[in-house]
Amino acid sequence: MSDYEHKHVTVVKKLLNSEGLSVNLAGLSLRNPTMLASGILGYSADALRSIVDGGAGAVVTKSVGLKPRAGYPNPTVVQTSCGLINAVGLPNPGINEFVKEISEAKKVLKVPLIVSVYGFSAEEYAIVSRKAVESGADALELNVSCPHVKETGSEIGQKPAILAELIRKVKATVEKPVFVKLSPNVTDIAELAEVAIRSGADGIIAINTVRAMAIDIETAKPILSNKRGGLSGPAIKPVALRCVYDIYERINAPLIGCGGIMNWRDAVEFMLAGATAVQIGTAIAIKGLHIFRSVVRGIAAYLKKKGFKEVSEIVGLAHRS
Ligand SMILES: Cc1cc2nc3c(=O)[nH]c(=O)nc-3n(C[C@H](O)[C@H](O)[C@H](O)COP(=O)(O)O)c2cc1C
Repeated sequence: MSDYEHKHVTVVKKLLNSEGLSVNLAGLSLRNPTMLASGILGYSADALRSIVDGGAGAVVTKSVGLKPRAGYPNPTVVQTSCGLINAVGLPNPGINEFVKEISEAKKVLKVPLIVSVYGFSAEEYAIVSRKAVESGADALELNVSCPHVKETGSEIGQKPAILAELIRKVKATVEKPVFVKLSPNVTDIAELAEVAIRSGADGIIAINTVRAMAIDIETAKPILSNKRGGLSGPAIKPVALRCVYDIYERINAPLIGCGGIMNWRDAVEFMLAGATAVQIGTAIAIKGLHIFRSVVRGIAAYLKKKGFKEVSEIVGLAHRS
């Protein structure tokens, strides 16, 4: 490495780890408020490491369940003018196989490792959560919001009583922070966030994808093999932002914004709405891994320009009357 490159790397490292940018999420300490969203490159320890090298403050794995799942046949993703629609169908190797990646990732990563978990019952969520923690997860993210697999995901997350039971069960099983990822495809997301926090959740992620579809006008058929899928990317940012704003008014717990974050301005908007940290997914496919570094740089410059010393000073600022 040349002197110039060495200097550059040192400056970037300092920025990514600088104190004003660090945030605390229910005891999890993040060097900066950016996180990888579940399902994008989170399949292996190697992929997670490349995300951390890109600058992320924490990583979330692809959602993992009790048993292996093949997912849906192709096509599973379709690009639209304003984002992606996916119905991948939660493909994963099952927790018994995935524990190897978790323990490998735990060894090599220097940022919190959050494992995303799904199940078809409260018991399944609890078993997968226990195995994830035993193999090295620093925290859990409960996927109660996947819009395209029956009897799990949003079918669980929109039923308050079932959601409450599931969170209590997981909290009784593990001693790590438990975050709950909610769906926007409900009437009142803030009510579900309240239920989740009252049932013991340590924080909320808002949002998962928005139910959507695309039709091929030549064949006159839905493009996705599953017909319906979930929309992500720029189109859903205003929806996600409104969800975060609504939830912030109702709960007093860490909130993580997710949905259509493409640059640092989007990230700052989510913080002003009430998010302590943000997750980034689709933007990685469009802009590459450096999105994390560039968002972190932008947030740092914004804080400086506005005279703030810490991220916490801007969290929820848009709620001032
Ligand atoms: C291809 C793809 C796969 C995804 N898989 C998961 C998943 O396994 N678990 C989950 O909770 N969310 C999953 N998501 C949703 C993302 O984590 C995120 O909530 C959503 O895409 C909105 O953020 P974005 O606009 O930054 O992508 C997936 C999204 C995409 C595009």
